[in-house]
Amino acid sequence: MRTHLVAPSLLAADFAHLDREVAVVEQSLADWHHLDVMDGRFVPNITFGMFIVQAIRRLATKPLDVHLMIVEPERYVEAFRQAGADIITVHYEACTHLHRIIQQIKATGAQAGVAVNPHTSVELLDDILEDIDLVCLMSVNPGFGGQQFIYRTIPKIRRLREMADTRNIPLLIEVDGGIGLQNAEAVLQSGADVLVAGSSVFAAKDPLEAIAQLKRIERKRAHFA
Ligand code: DX5
Ligand code: ZN
Repeated sequence: MRTHLVAPSLLAADFAHLDREVAVVEQSLADWHHLDVMDGRFVPNITFGMFIVQAIRRLATKPLDVHLMIVEPERYVEAFRQAGADIITVHYEACTHLHRIIQQIKATGAQAGVAVNPHTSVELLDDILEDIDLVCLMSVNPGFGGQQFIYRTIPKIRRLREMADTRNIPLLIEVDGGIGLQNAEAVLQSGADVLVAGSSVFAAKDPLEAIAQLKRIERKRAHFA
């Protein structure tokens, strides 16, 4: 069975103790660090840029999954790669020349991801599906942690899984926003591969255990057997 991945989002961590928070993820069963870069333009919020990504790179051995919620991401792809990003995800809605940006990401040696907002149909990815490594389906409107999971994401996961499988594309489907034990199983059984979790991990009494619980969920769909 193909097992799923868990990527805790550092957005919900204590930034006064970033080293400690990164260490928690490092010691845990988590697979990746999910890093949310926000510019105050594509989304209303501002978080951090490549200097912080670079600092986290020095503390982490696990892959850095960098989610760029910024306009004109093509201006920063190389900088984030140099800072240590392993996966660079850009937003469909922020890219006029998405195909070109995907090639640009791949040329750096990073894996290329495309994120779609809740209102963006997965059908719009039809012509680039073969070119990308990962699709990040936003299950909240990007910009903030701690929001409610939008259940309309579930049929989108199913549809995208079907599109990828029919064409034999080894695509990773990541779901981001409002994920916790209450919905993680449904998300996985719909065909997701990567669970991003911010508040359900870092606001938990025991983040290590919260991560372990997300990892322990079994995907029961025959599809993954
Ligand atoms: C939202 C970010 C998410 C966020 C998830 O814009 O992309 O990664 O940190 O946080 P939770 O799990 O709290 O919804
Ligand atoms: Zn994210």
